[in-house]
Amino acid sequence: MKTYDIAVIGGDGTGPEVTAEALKVAEAAARKFGFRLNWHPYDVGGERYLKTGEVLPDSVVEELRKFKAIYLGAVGHPQVKPGILEKGILLRLRFELEQYINLRPVKLYRAQDCPVKDKGPEHVDFIVVRENNEGLYAGAGGNLFKGTPHEVAVQESINTRRGVDRCLKYAFEVARKRRNGQPWKGLKPEDVQAGKTAQLTLCGKTNVLTYAFDLWWRAFQDMAPAYPTIKTDYAHVDAICMWFVKNPEWFDVIVTDNMFGDIITDLAAMIQGGLGVAAGGNINPDGTSMFEPMGGSAPKYTGQNVINPIAAINAGAMMLDFLGESAAAAAIEAAVVKIINTRIQSLAAGKMGHGTREVGDLIAAAI
Ligand code: IPM
Ligand code: MN
Repeated sequence: MKTYDIAVIGGDGTGPEVTAEALKVAEAAARKFGFRLNWHPYDVGGERYLKTGEVLPDSVVEELRKFKAIYLGAVGHPQVKPGILEKGILLRLRFELEQYINLRPVKLYRAQDCPVKDKGPEHVDFIVVRENNEGLYAGAGGNLFKGTPHEVAVQESINTRRGVDRCLKYAFEVARKRRNGQPWKGLKPEDVQAGKTAQLTLCGKTNVLTYAFDLWWRAFQDMAPAYPTIKTDYAHVDAICMWFVKNPEWFDVIVTDNMFGDIITDLAAMIQGGLGVAAGGNINPDGTSMFEPMGGSAPKYTGQNVINPIAAINAGAMMLDFLGESAAAAAIEAAVVKIINTRIQSLAAGKMGHGTREVGDLIAAAI
């Protein structure tokens, strides 16, 4: 039987609770589709840091490198100063394991979960490809005269041609393979006539960030001819924030840098029903990828069985899809859609009409 070894970092707060449900549902899919999942738990997070002073031992990073996939619940602890766990665990793994793509599907499963008037599942169905190793996150910069009235702080955005090219290439490939090449319904008849099947929008700020996004823009133009079935488009980041609210149906696949991707995917998560459903994958196509619900550790809900596990379950589905088990991933998604539409009152924590474990049970049973 086909077997997958997966590292699991449950992490802090409600991370372990939602992880348990994601694993439960993935197991149900594995049973149905005839493969095996071997979980390898790692004790990493705020609790361990407070006990031992260790954030992420080098030896653990080396062990994690041996896996094709890591499942991550959440990191973030109220007693740990902001930045230590985020930089020391999440960003360190994204960088050291060269997870250069952050993939964030944005899909609304039920109209009532969208805070935007008159928008339903037919309007919100796009995917954001966020660069995940460079930009403002690279940590370039420094300060002078700290703490004095003359203090200077510089934080630079690093954009390499190699980093931009590999991100764009991934995004063009996502667009090319989307809907198995069936034309996206947002295309104009003349685009379909011209053989287009998908649209890729570069999200930037070419009017102000004239070095960084000039590079992105040229790289985008240079690559486009290799993908004749993809309609290319461009939008400034501020305009995209407007359009996500006003016309989310205009988007199919979006590619952007690290910082803009961080910001627009939080906005996008809200129009898809919130952090209770939004999931993401940190992808290194040739190495170790890591899948996580987009929300944080929500420490105030810890142990109460009230947090929504669907984002975590969706992250599990993304992971199975990435591992090549696309039928199992599709079955999880179908079960999620069915249970949201028949059994879940609200996607907000404490308002689902069921507990965390019960939602996991319902979805597992639906598979
Ligand atoms: C995300 C998060 C992280 C980020 C934080 C926790 C460092 O907001 O995954 O979007 O900024 O990338
Ligand atoms: Mn974020």
